[in-house]
Amino acid sequence: MNNLQLEIESILADVGQQHLLAFMEQLDDEQRVQLLDQIGQIDFEEIRSLFANESSDCDWSELASRAEPPAAIALGQGHEKFSRDEAIDCGEQLLRDGKVGMILVAGGQGSRLGFDKPKGMYPIGPISNNSLFQVIFEKVLGYSRYYGKTIPLFVMSSPATDQDTVDFLTLHHNFGIPADDCQVFCQGTMPAVDRQTGNLLLAAKDRLFTSPDGHGGMVAALQKHGCLQTMQDRGIETIFYGQIDNPLMQVCDPLTIGYHKLLASEMTSQVVRKSEPLQRVGNLVSIDGRVQIIEYSDLPPQYAEQTDEAGNLKLWAGSIAVHAFETSFLKRVVENDGSLPFHRAYKKVPFVDEAGNLVDPSEPNAVKFEKFIFDLLPFAANALAIEVDPADGFAAVKNAPPATTETAETTKAAMVDQHKRWLNEIGVTVDSGVPVEISPLFAIHEKQLAEKMERGGIISEPTYLV
Ligand code: UTP
Repeated sequence: MNNLQLEIESILADVGQQHLLAFMEQLDDEQRVQLLDQIGQIDFEEIRSLFANESSDCDWSELASRAEPPAAIALGQGHEKFSRDEAIDCGEQLLRDGKVGMILVAGGQGSRLGFDKPKGMYPIGPISNNSLFQVIFEKVLGYSRYYGKTIPLFVMSSPATDQDTVDFLTLHHNFGIPADDCQVFCQGTMPAVDRQTGNLLLAAKDRLFTSPDGHGGMVAALQKHGCLQTMQDRGIETIFYGQIDNPLMQVCDPLTIGYHKLLASEMTSQVVRKSEPLQRVGNLVSIDGRVQIIEYSDLPPQYAEQTDEAGNLKLWAGSIAVHAFETSFLKRVVENDGSLPFHRAYKKVPFVDEAGNLVDPSEPNAVKFEKFIFDLLPFAANALAIEVDPADGFAAVKNAPPATTETAETTKAAMVDQHKRWLNEIGVTVDSGVPVEISPLFAIHEKQLAEKMERGGIISEPTYLV
């Protein structure tokens, strides 16, 4: 028995987690070292405290009672100081000056979708079958061509998705984005624990179960991989943030970026108007002058149902996980050790039991710990909400059939509907039931479509404009 093993055994005895070494006798030398190294990196005190929920003494009901709507630009409306056109001009100028970058988070395991590759590889183009990666990369490329300046792209992977992501992007030459302008960076992980005992789980006899540490792990990962420095060196002032599973995302939307800049916001979030009080979205609210999210599950109905004088929902703004950040804000958060809190989620996690058998539970048996990016909001000066029409900005791929919401089918339908609307706007009729898809390399928005296509005409068979 070597020193490392003795040391780890002593640590595990202190924290009551000796079960992790139960199969040491059955492992070869390499496997033993791997397991001991992995255990050696765990902060057991942190895990104990997270399991005991010691940091979570938040009284949501009390907070919700004081919640007000956030400072926001409503759909189709301007701001008292700056019109929508002024905001768009400002955003477009920033894009033309090369001051905008993009972060795409793609480190999740996509467990609900049940796809065995990174979600970004999922075919989503309604006609083209292009992957989520291709659709969003081509949007970034389309925008950078339209404004004549590179938009550096930072893609967050996780140990679960990194190799496949890098291989896929390399195979497809980053879908046209030059290698110098695309950096894949890998986020960290957290172990999961048994929900009854708080014991760490083994994924195999020689390996702990770990999962990505949440999209909020982005902040530490950006710093660790030097991305914040790269952004600063390249003169990137504003970073647009989106998630891989939303191909309808308004990548680098000039209106959002423009208001974000003009109103000196350090973090701006796109929101949709909730259609019901307890819609399953995070509620963007303002409490004591600070913007934050209250999850729908934490919002008591009596506060969710409040209305304003006009009879509309008071807490109306639902987050769609699309944000703009100032690079200087992210740097400041990192420098002040603005480590984000962990949230707990109950999930089904396969594990090796005491007898050495792999168990695939049918009910959530484990607690996973994840950081959420929206926890940056309260730290941001002048945090702002921009309302978007979901039909033009949000259709996430989360679930597999038999689910009927947020599936690949609903997302494809939303993409087709959007592109039909763009065509209708320029007088092109698309026959009922006929799918159309517009490549972002053909047009990134209605305006560019109008510049490229002749008005009028009829489309009567499935058409991919590329
Ligand atoms: P979700 O919370 O929907 O998770 O992530 P998911 O992994 O896609 O799906 P489920 O919950 O396992 O079914 C929203 C976005 O955040 C990214 C995901 O890749 C997705 O773009 N994400 C999530 C990360 O990058 N890292 C994480 O640790 C978690």
